[in-house]
Amino acid sequence: MTTEESVKKRIEELTEQINYYNHEYYINDRSLISDYEFDQLLYELIQLEEKYPEYKKPESPTQRVGGGITKEFKTVEHKRPMLSLSNTYSEEELKEFDMRIRKAIGDTFEYVCELKFDGVAISIIYENGILKQAVTRGDGTKGDDVTTNIKTIRTIPLRVNRKDIPDEFEVRGEIFMPLDVFNALNKEKEDIGEPLLANPRNAASGTLKLQDSSQVAKRRLDCYIYSLLEDNGIAETHSQALSLLKDWGFNISPTFRVCKVLDEVMEYIKHWDSERWKLPLATDGIVIKVNNFKQQEALGYTAKSPKWAVAFKFKSESAATVLEDISYQVGRTGAVTPVANLKPVLLAGTRVKRASLHNANEIERLDIRIGDTVFVEKGGEIIPKITGVDLSKRPENSQPLQYIKKCPECGSTLIRKEGEALHYCPNEKGCPPQLKGKIEHFIQRKAMAIEGIGPETIEMFFNLGLIKNPADLYDLKFEQLKGLERFGEKSAQNLLAGLEKSKSVPFRQVLFALGIRYVGSTVAEKLAAHYKNIDQLMNADFESLISVHEIGERIAQSVVDYFKDPDNVNMIERLKHAGLQFAEQETQNRKESNKLEGKTFVISGVFKNFSREALQQKIEANGGKILSSISSKLNFLIAGDNMGPSKKEKAEKLGVPIISEDDFMKMLAD
Ligand code: IVH
Repeated sequence: MTTEESVKKRIEELTEQINYYNHEYYINDRSLISDYEFDQLLYELIQLEEKYPEYKKPESPTQRVGGGITKEFKTVEHKRPMLSLSNTYSEEELKEFDMRIRKAIGDTFEYVCELKFDGVAISIIYENGILKQAVTRGDGTKGDDVTTNIKTIRTIPLRVNRKDIPDEFEVRGEIFMPLDVFNALNKEKEDIGEPLLANPRNAASGTLKLQDSSQVAKRRLDCYIYSLLEDNGIAETHSQALSLLKDWGFNISPTFRVCKVLDEVMEYIKHWDSERWKLPLATDGIVIKVNNFKQQEALGYTAKSPKWAVAFKFKSESAATVLEDISYQVGRTGAVTPVANLKPVLLAGTRVKRASLHNANEIERLDIRIGDTVFVEKGGEIIPKITGVDLSKRPENSQPLQYIKKCPECGSTLIRKEGEALHYCPNEKGCPPQLKGKIEHFIQRKAMAIEGIGPETIEMFFNLGLIKNPADLYDLKFEQLKGLERFGEKSAQNLLAGLEKSKSVPFRQVLFALGIRYVGSTVAEKLAAHYKNIDQLMNADFESLISVHEIGERIAQSVVDYFKDPDNVNMIERLKHAGLQFAEQETQNRKESNKLEGKTFVISGVFKNFSREALQQKIEANGGKILSSISSKLNFLIAGDNMGPSKKEKAEKLGVPIISEDDFMKMLAD
């Protein structure tokens, strides 16, 4: 076998293995190899494809990690229009629907009931088994081409490797953000002081429109397919089509059911009305479809929706109870959040005694008072919301609520910044929950991933005066720990081992762990990739920071302020001394050539063929150097789309050549 042949064969083998493990993991919930082994396979494939791009297929599983950039989502016409469903809200209305069907096609038919998933509708076209194009619903006739982003969703096959499929077919389904992903994302947002996402549906649709598909890949969207459209008539009924789709590797929710009569439909509705809270995603109703395709055709369509299907919307779960008290929580960033303490009430199958009140504006808007009877509702969030007050039950002597003026934890006077809804405790360096919160943030998995310590241990150590900030952790000694009550030798050893292990956590995670306001894990990654080490980052001024892609003024100012504080600098010195990683490890970039030897580049804007990180790597792999800001010494500014005007101006003023992505490619090709 020639090298070429063996490379091709290996690429095929790897593709097959990866696809198999992916499918087992994401569709069948079976983990057959370790994450590490899986990553090794994927890494080998990425490397081979980079070296032999002629063998890279559009359906390669390496697309799952993203990297492709969509500058502008093209508007595309749907091959088959995407209609909507008419809604019903009561058993009466469903009976009318059932009567209409019987009148049109007689009594011999079945329904299929499905859950109505609350996400974003998608149409995906396959040609010769290969995923060709994925388009959002848009206005039903035209939608946005989001193919690159959709390819990162692991449960959507990039290729259907079967002989019994039509040359062309379309599947429709719902893209959603699983509730645990949504809640984790919001927790992180809260943690770094960013506004929260309203609900999983908005989060899913926002994610689908991100330009950088590697960011989409990180958000862990998922998809349930609920229709097959094709012209060969390979299935007679919708339920057969769903089974076929399942066989072909699509993610079909196992919750659908064939129902012979309306009573069974009602049973299905009743069952899921209460059970839906146990599902890993948000649902807002049931979809009832006539099962047989010929009967569907006979029933036909109105301008907007099929006559053979209908949605039954769940009533939003709401309960009335008494507001007993309000408590105020202080987070890591000092943000104060009011929480309603309620007389326990049963809501959507769980006992609820707390509800979020968001901020002072919300309290004012609701004019909520202690002793009021309030309505609580459950959405996709962990804790329910208060949606209103039953004024008819308001106690006579009730008083409007006074929002607290002082921090409930340390007594400092709270502040409220211009234009911000939240109150803050300004006592960053002395307020216990802020100090403990910073340590909790530091040890978490996405940050230093320190094993052997959790919130309770932090609480104990803090109260004993052993730790006040993250750097103190690395000064802990076995002697101090082994005799602690509820701790002991084994725990002490585990913790020290955990701390030791954290010393190899990469710089980008260390940077995130520092807990700089607005610097979440993605921003930390970008900053680490750009500045390479903490010293360069510390020396970066506001101008330099905002020149980094996706770093805005708010983040830049926060970074500058953080490093201005001598206490922070001192803590970093101590962490450095302890041996934490404060520089990015040189990537094992394959050297490609010396064509750019001695040349310096600044890159700005969004590019067609590369993510910014990939472009940066390309420059370095060919001997070039990336600079952080424009000066007269700079050789080239590579300009992508949406480049900031100030950069362009500066380069022009200093006479620095501005080149396009294509010019750059030519430079490499020459
Ligand atoms: S079938 C002709 N099945 O609901 C429309 N739709 O208003 C056929 N949806 O935009 C749609 N779960 O995104 C169907 N199991 C399900 C669904 C479902 C959610 C969404 C869909 C569509 C909207 C219909």
